[in-house]
Amino acid sequence: MTFKRSEFPKGFQFAAATSSYQIEGHGHGGAGPTHWDTFAATPGNVVRAENGAIACDHYHRMDEDLDLMQGLGLDAYRFSTSWARVLPEGRGTPNADGLDFYDRLVDGLLKRGINPMATLYHWELPAALADLGGWRNPDISHWLADFATVIMRRIGDRVYSAAPINEPWCVAWLSHFMGHHAPGLRDIRAAAHAMHHVLTGHGRAVQAMRALGVKNLGAVCNFEYVHPADDTAEAAAAARLYDGIYNRFFLGGLFKGAYPPEVMEGLAPHMPKGWQDDFDLIGQPLDWCGLNYYTCKRIAPVKGAWPGHGEVPGPLPKTQMGWEIYPEGLEYFLKWVDTEYTKGLPLYVTESGMANADRADQPDQARIDYLNAHVAAAQRAMAAGAPLKGYTFWSLMDNYEWALGYEKRFGLIHVDFETLKRTPKASYHALAAALAS
Ligand code: FCB
Repeated sequence: MTFKRSEFPKGFQFAAATSSYQIEGHGHGGAGPTHWDTFAATPGNVVRAENGAIACDHYHRMDEDLDLMQGLGLDAYRFSTSWARVLPEGRGTPNADGLDFYDRLVDGLLKRGINPMATLYHWELPAALADLGGWRNPDISHWLADFATVIMRRIGDRVYSAAPINEPWCVAWLSHFMGHHAPGLRDIRAAAHAMHHVLTGHGRAVQAMRALGVKNLGAVCNFEYVHPADDTAEAAAAARLYDGIYNRFFLGGLFKGAYPPEVMEGLAPHMPKGWQDDFDLIGQPLDWCGLNYYTCKRIAPVKGAWPGHGEVPGPLPKTQMGWEIYPEGLEYFLKWVDTEYTKGLPLYVTESGMANADRADQPDQARIDYLNAHVAAAQRAMAAGAPLKGYTFWSLMDNYEWALGYEKRFGLIHVDFETLKRTPKASYHALAAALAS
């Protein structure tokens, strides 16, 4: 690596991230069905109809995985708690094995000197709640707060930090407007409701965790740097609207008590009743803000219904996802979020990484280069004053990449999905050396 731990302030948290459905193996341990199971079982939604029933079998291999984290020299580990593992019906009677599992995970981390960073919801909604409308139903904020209470009563005294929801844009827009993720809807009313309820859910879950005394609460949003596809005014307007929906809507709700006007031009007629009255709930004081960042997009106008924009391919080198590599975007967002929204609040990079067609017996130099370039971008932002307190690599290990199944490999650790054997990649060893330095 071109960076060393010694270049970072004392207490800076180097972390790796995963999420529950992507690694645990949802077929084990009494977890209830989720909307990802049913989405994956519906033809055409997921590559080869793959699902998270076994995934990396982390449920049974937790100790081995914890040892690998320790070998990497991590300060922290960002994981998520599966709602359906803890509450198989989404509400009601908890699954004792599920609570025990997260209890052992937190203790196993602490025993190895690794700080547990918890996310309550990383996308596997219990199917029983999907039946009730999921994120379209305003009651979901109460359901999420109740789940927060059940899980945090068990682990909240020992987590380093907690955030309610991973990536509101994916939960709401990608899943209810674009239809790419569960529940696979393409409906503007469903999307408008989900966009708002994901934030009321955030607010109520923060309240519930504060009431229990859980410390260090934040929000995790994802960002894409937006380039207009060309120099026309039409492309500039299309890019501005894409940026509003993707990058400014959720931050606006969380930190400014308002949604971007150009987004509301399209969404206002479809919003849930009384949405204007919810900003006190949404804008709960937070202790930090997390940024997930992977790529940039080129946006062009498209004829047709609002929002009337689409992506065109760009010229930069791309990852296995087809995503352009653009570290400058990370530097930009760390500075921009601080100056425009969070104003001095601690920031964390909560995800950053690349997919690569890795084999266990080949060095993943492309990932080493990607991580170096993005960490350097974060260091430039810090030098310019961004209050960055930690940097999280996505992902600890190869895992279930949602609609793209198991073929997109994001891990520092290779996983053979036939044998479930873990093999640290060259990037793992390089990072371990950088963190030991
Ligand atoms: C993020 C998700 C994570 C993973 C990476 C590649 O949007 O939070 O689960 O899929 O992208």
